[in-house]
Amino acid sequence: MTRHATSEYFLGKTKIGKGITMGLRIVMLGAPGAGKGTQAVRMAKEMGIPHISTGDIFRKNLREGTDLGKKVQGYLNSGALVPDELTCEIVADRLQEADCANGYILDGFPRSVPQAEMLTGFLAKRGEKIEVAVNIDVPDEEIVGRLSARRSDPETGAVYNLKFNPPPPEIADKLIQREDDKPETVKARLETYHETTEPIIAYYGELGVLKNVPGSNATPDEIYQRIMDVLPK
Ligand code: AP5
Repeated sequence: MTRHATSEYFLGKTKIGKGITMGLRIVMLGAPGAGKGTQAVRMAKEMGIPHISTGDIFRKNLREGTDLGKKVQGYLNSGALVPDELTCEIVADRLQEADCANGYILDGFPRSVPQAEMLTGFLAKRGEKIEVAVNIDVPDEEIVGRLSARRSDPETGAVYNLKFNPPPPEIADKLIQREDDKPETVKARLETYHETTEPIIAYYGELGVLKNVPGSNATPDEIYQRIMDVLPK
């Protein structure tokens, strides 16, 4: 079903199984390692909408050695943000693809007030808006421990954690650690987060769409349930 296929598009959203609402445009907020990706992947699967991670897009281009990959390499490796203009252009292109018509989950974007303003303006021109901003709140001390233990599968992109979500033993050998998960880069990413990204929590608060979810000392399943509880029904 496309959003334009039924009058439900104009009336609001459509409910699907387990009380989950379909057709939402969601942004995931939270520090590096807060669990945005872990939750967004599951939410996207359950809701049948795309998970759009700017970090994944940049890392894919890095691996493939594209022009974009070459442009963003220095930023990613140092924990700095890719310039807003370049990032916004990529997201705007992606959001115009057909699979975004029923909603989507943005993970890692927006990441600065100018990016958030660009997104609001871009959507307004299309008569659309972000319906929910889910902020997963985890303190810095916990983040550092999580990221040093994060490993991912280069073939499937699946993310594991040596401490909290161990991989199956048969794939353990092929897992890799992200370049930017080294402790000195994690520190730089957290600084960038507090300086540049954290202010957008207030931005979405003012728009009236912010949902805060405590993300500390709880399993991914528990956090997932907390997110489901705050999404519009
Ligand atoms: P990006 O890939 O977006 O990285 P990030 O925001 O730093 O987020 P992470 O992917 O590190 O963490 P996450 O919150 O998704 O956590 P995860 O679920 O993996 O960006 C990377 C870089 O790209 C940036 O530094 C920047 O250079 C560039 N970039 C990207 N977007 C940009 C933008 N919009 N503008 C400019 N530049 C941009 O979980 C972390 C770990 O914890 C995992 O091991 C997981 O298994 C574990 N875990 C998850 N939940 C729990 C739990 N409840 N308990 C215990 N462990 C858990």
